[in-house]
Amino acid sequence: MDAMLLNGRKAMLTGIPGDLVSLSRVHKVYGGGIAGVHALHDIELHVATGEMVTVCGPCGSGKTSLLNIAGMLDIASEGNVVIASLLVSRLSEQARADLRGEMIGFVFQSFSLIPVMTARENVLLPLLLRGSLAQGELSAAHDRADALLAQVGLATQAQHYPSKLTASQCQRVAIARALVTRPRLVIADEPTSRLDNGCIRLVMDLFSRQQQEQGTAFLISTRDQRQLSRADRTLQLSEGRLQSLPSTGSRRPLRVQL
Ligand SMILES: Nc1ncnc2c1ncn2[C@@H]1O[C@H](COP(=O)(O)OP(=O)(O)OP(=O)(O)O)[C@@H](O)[C@H]1O
Ligand SMILES: [Mg+2]
Repeated sequence: MDAMLLNGRKAMLTGIPGDLVSLSRVHKVYGGGIAGVHALHDIELHVATGEMVTVCGPCGSGKTSLLNIAGMLDIASEGNVVIASLLVSRLSEQARADLRGEMIGFVFQSFSLIPVMTARENVLLPLLLRGSLAQGELSAAHDRADALLAQVGLATQAQHYPSKLTASQCQRVAIARALVTRPRLVIADEPTSRLDNGCIRLVMDLFSRQQQEQGTAFLISTRDQRQLSRADRTLQLSEGRLQSLPSTGSRRPLRVQL
C-alpha cells in the first residue's frame, strides 16, 4: 500500500496491512482528576477494507466515544489509532480533516443536518466541501444526491428543510449524506435508532450493496440486535471494554486492493 501525501508531507506508514482502521491499546478519559470519566479501556479494534463491523452496547457504554476516535473527530487519551496506514497522532488537525473528507462518511447520532439547507443540499454538502465543481460535475452530483435520497425512501422530500422532516426522515438524509462521496469507510453511530422495520431493511440493504459493489467498509454502532445478522463481525461494548461476539455474518469480508 502506498503512503499518502498529506499537506506535502509523507505521514508515517504503520498498522497491519489490509486494515483500514486499527485501534491499539486505546483509552479515552474525559476531564481529569476525581471527576474524570474513563469512557474507553484498552480498546483493540481492527476493521479491514470492505468489512462490516457492528459495535453493540447499551446506553453510555462508549459507542460514540469509540466511533468518534475511529473517525478522527476526537483523539484518544492513550494508544495508537491508524487509519489507512497513517498514524493519526502524527497528523495535523488539517491533515486529519482532509483525510476524513477524502475517505470517511460519518452518520452522526444526532444527524447534524444544516437547518437552512434542503435535504438535497445537505446530502450534497460533503461533495461541495471538497472544492468547487464544474457544471457537468455539479449536475452529476445532484443526480447522485437524488438517487441516494430515493434509495432511502425520500424521493419526494429532496426540497424539504430538516424542520419539515420527521426524525426518521432526518436520519435517512444523514445516511444519504454519508454515502454521497463514495467513501472507503462509513462510520455510522446508531444509524437506525429512529427507523421503523421497513426503513431499517431499506438502509441495511443499501449498506450491504455499497459493501458488496464498492468494497466500502462499515463501522456501525447499535443498541438494536436486529442489525447484527448483516455484519461480518459483531463486537460487544460494555462499560468501555470491547469483546467479540460469535460471528453472525454469512459473508466473508471483501479484501479490496488499495
Ligand atoms: N464530552 C464528554 N465529557 C464527559 N463525559 C463524556 C463526554 N462524552 C461522553 N462522556 C461519557 O463517556 C461515557 C461514554 O459515553 P458515550 O456517549 O461514548 O456512550 P454511548 O454508548 O454512545 O451512549 P448512548 O447509547 O447514550 O449514545 C458516558 O459515561 C458519558 O457520560
Ligand atoms: Mg452514543
